Amino acid sequence: MSATTAAGAAYLVAALLFVLSLAGLSRHETARAGNRFGMAGMALALAATVGLAARDLETVAIALIVAAMGAGAAIGLWRAGRVAMTGMPELIALLHSFVGLAAVLVGWNGYLAVEGAPAGEAELLDLPVGIHSAEVGIGVFIGAVTFTGSIVAFLKLSARIRSNPLMLPGRNALNLGAVAAFAVLTVVFVVEPSLPVLAALTVLALALGWHLVASIGGGDMPVVVSMLNSYSGWAAAASGFLLDNDLLIITGALVGSSGAYLSYVMCQAMNRSFLSVIAGGFGTEGGSVAATEDGEYAEVTADEVAALLRDAESVVITPGYGMAVAHAQGPVAELTRKLTEAGVQVRFGIHPVAGRLPGHMNVLLAEAKVPYDIVLEMDEINDDFAKTSVVLVIGANDTVNPAATEDPASPIAGMPVLTVWEAEHVVVLKRSMSTGYAGVQNPLFFKENTRMLFGDARERVEDVLKAL
Ligand code: TAP
Repeated sequence: MSATTAAGAAYLVAALLFVLSLAGLSRHETARAGNRFGMAGMALALAATVGLAARDLETVAIALIVAAMGAGAAIGLWRAGRVAMTGMPELIALLHSFVGLAAVLVGWNGYLAVEGAPAGEAELLDLPVGIHSAEVGIGVFIGAVTFTGSIVAFLKLSARIRSNPLMLPGRNALNLGAVAAFAVLTVVFVVEPSLPVLAALTVLALALGWHLVASIGGGDMPVVVSMLNSYSGWAAAASGFLLDNDLLIITGALVGSSGAYLSYVMCQAMNRSFLSVIAGGFGTEGGSVAATEDGEYAEVTADEVAALLRDAESVVITPGYGMAVAHAQGPVAELTRKLTEAGVQVRFGIHPVAGRLPGHMNVLLAEAKVPYDIVLEMDEINDDFAKTSVVLVIGANDTVNPAATEDPASPIAGMPVLTVWEAEHVVVLKRSMSTGYAGVQNPLFFKENTRMLFGDARERVEDVLKAL
């Protein structure tokens, strides 16, 4: 068997492993296996690619590749080992920027090796030069948009820059104009490839990526991260065409389409149109903003909450970002065990965008060994709130905000929410009256059946546990 055939076979197996990985990641029970399939596929793909390339390379080049892979792996392991769950979205955004940058470099390299090389030294192609030039233009464009877009997303998510939307006048016209200019530049580049045109195309795409994400506000950031995930996939697929690597095309397409689908699902969960998210301009300042509306709210003590829970028939816990920040999942799981032993039915209601990334809450609860079968999705639990004795809202805010359904003027109007206020009693655990991520006031806190238990979620849950 020739080396090319062996690599082709390895690529096929790796592609299948990636498909199995995605299938596994779609369910909690199989997510670990899914991850392992992905790791195995990537190891196989790397080994086959480097093995194939090594035939034509000098020892120094192979040593450089191995050193680069070793350094990359070491940095990756170090970062992934240290990152907190709450810092995951910004890490993901940063990683997407690497994919974008790689696609830009691959595109430039493609140009320098073919169109831009002196006549005698140009690499031989088995396709018309025009097609190659189009691949370079498109690859560089998608890569550069992904690169700067991801950098801005990283800066916003890590609070290094303000997360409110940049509202330039005529921003939609600017975006459309940039896409039109890209089309013109690509045609010019295909007809007459030249360095200045490629440079102009790159700068244009870098600026467009920056502007696209800068004009998207804090509230829409989750969708942006998954959208950039999709872009990074298409950027990788474009590189695959340039490098004539089938596996990269398949993998890029898998990432691109699954990212696009996830963005679509998340837009539905927030009742936002995908196009308006991409066009930007929605979403206010992220982080806590002082409450603007005054109202009467009632406080409660941990002892009183324990008494409520003891007398309850059914309890639903709706966690949010605050549970993650407070690392309260351990005590929450302990509380669940205690109440279940005492004959109380305990379930969890998870909003699709609770926390700061998809599946955030599910991962934390799984880590704390909460059984999967009592962790329900919003649609599965929403009809049951009216029959629930006590709802514990633990560090959640926007996802349980009745203004989304009751106030058409609210910035989150129309976003599906957990209808916790229908329960007999609602206890909200948070530190203050300040707002959640979307920066909007929450009328839930002022409802008659709502009680506030102020303080760090972990400490307060531990207090309730002691009182029980
Ligand atoms: P938020 O609306 O952000 O509310 C979290 C609440 O937790 C805050 O109001 C905060 O109130 C409280 N909190 C913070 N630290 C706490 C601590 N140590 N102990 C107790 N409480 C604490 O969270 P949510 O309900 O999960 O909603 C998610 C929001 O994030 C949505 O707006 C969503 O669009 C956005 N978002 C989601 C994603 C994804 S994909 N899931 C990604 C990015 C953004 P205090 O300050 O008063 O304590």
